[in-house]
Amino acid sequence: MAKKKKHYDWTDGPATLEAHSLTKHDVLVGYLIRYFEQRTLNARGRDRFRITLVDGFCGGGLYTVAGSNEEALGSPLRMLSAVEEASVRINRHRTKPLDLDVQYVFIDKDARAIEHLTKVLQDRGYGAKLGRSIHLMREDFTVAAPAVIGLVQRHTPQAQCALFFLDQYGYTDVPAPLIRQIFSQLRNSEIVLTFHVQAFAKYTNDDFTDKIATALDIDIRGALGGRSIEELKSDDADWRRFIQAALYQGLVDNCGADFFTPFFIRGTGSGHGEYWLVHLSQHHRAQDVMKQVHWEHHNHFVHYGGAGLDMLATHTMGFRQKFTGGFRFDDVASHQSATALREQLAQNIFARAAPVHIGELFASTCNRSPATAGMYNSVLADLVGERDIVITSADGKRRKSARYMRDTDVIERSRQANLILVR
Ligand SMILES: C[S@@+](CC[C@H](N)C(=O)[O-])C[C@H]1O[C@@H](n2cnc3c(N)ncnc32)[C@H](O)[C@@H]1O
Repeated sequence: MAKKKKHYDWTDGPATLEAHSLTKHDVLVGYLIRYFEQRTLNARGRDRFRITLVDGFCGGGLYTVAGSNEEALGSPLRMLSAVEEASVRINRHRTKPLDLDVQYVFIDKDARAIEHLTKVLQDRGYGAKLGRSIHLMREDFTVAAPAVIGLVQRHTPQAQCALFFLDQYGYTDVPAPLIRQIFSQLRNSEIVLTFHVQAFAKYTNDDFTDKIATALDIDIRGALGGRSIEELKSDDADWRRFIQAALYQGLVDNCGADFFTPFFIRGTGSGHGEYWLVHLSQHHRAQDVMKQVHWEHHNHFVHYGGAGLDMLATHTMGFRQKFTGGFRFDDVASHQSATALREQLAQNIFARAAPVHIGELFASTCNRSPATAGMYNSVLADLVGERDIVITSADGKRRKSARYMRDTDVIERSRQANLILVR
């Protein structure tokens, strides 16, 4: 009888992959395509856009999906085809073609994975690119990181532009100081990090929780209503809320990223969120692109927190509230966001001593909200319509429609709003 293969074993052909991992790939592809579309939007005169895509835990390139005999491509091949698709899309209406000059770095510590990936790439016509625009490294990611940073710096000496997909199997393979180093040495870098919830559950215990609570100065015990971690682990929703509430802040503070999104990916069907997918970046526009992907692929995401600003504050996480199924980036969630944002953005604007640019309003609050910049703008348009605020463009035009709003537009409270507040 044939021996049952372990997960991620490429000794004898493709490894086995759980179906929910495919969702991660769909999100990665969705993000890459949107990323290229947005980064090249205002690049009319340019003929080249350079970036390095790093897959730090790349695997062997090909899988058989568990429970079926279907073949699935691994993340390196999904990245390559996402760039090909993005290139077609962005060049569709351009008279002067724009070249996506992408350098790929694929790393895995398992020799069999790299061997298998090499063969898969050769079989699929990428052989000539190996060692040129595609670099394969059989190495632990933390050990390979300095060399990877060097490759990025050589490919984009000025822009230092890279996207790291760090799809570790567990939770501990990407230390926060390494993330800090990447951000400090590569100023235009972004990181997509996954945490496997089950692996995390194994690692966490009450001692660990107490340490986090002390370090973050959060009353996690109070927020958990006195329940132990063991009790939480038996409840999917509470467990995920704990991970989000307790850890996002520590991770983000320790990583040196200015912007982030911390939501769960769930597989097709009714999953609760098998992975925590954290996107870390240094620009609010990058954060916005990832949020757009969350809403676009709404079947794939779930958030165990609030709808408006303060989405991860303990009082919105509902540890003691009845669980309603989570925030699912669907129409219901969109409506909740619009309602919550309308009030909270108005309060935020009114509380300011001076007018604020749209870009600044978004940048200073977007980490606390699941809403995209587009959603902010439609709420702002409503507030303009209600005469609560006035928005003026850099050249002095009044803005009414969300569609034309720009980061550089200035928001002020209107006189009527003042009267309402005084009353
Ligand atoms: C979850 S799989 C990732 C698969 C790949 N991202 C995909 O979706 O096709 C994790 C991979 O990371 C590799 N790995 C585990 N620890 C590693 C480390 N510290 N450095 C580099 N690779 C590692 C494993 O050998 C395995 O192939």
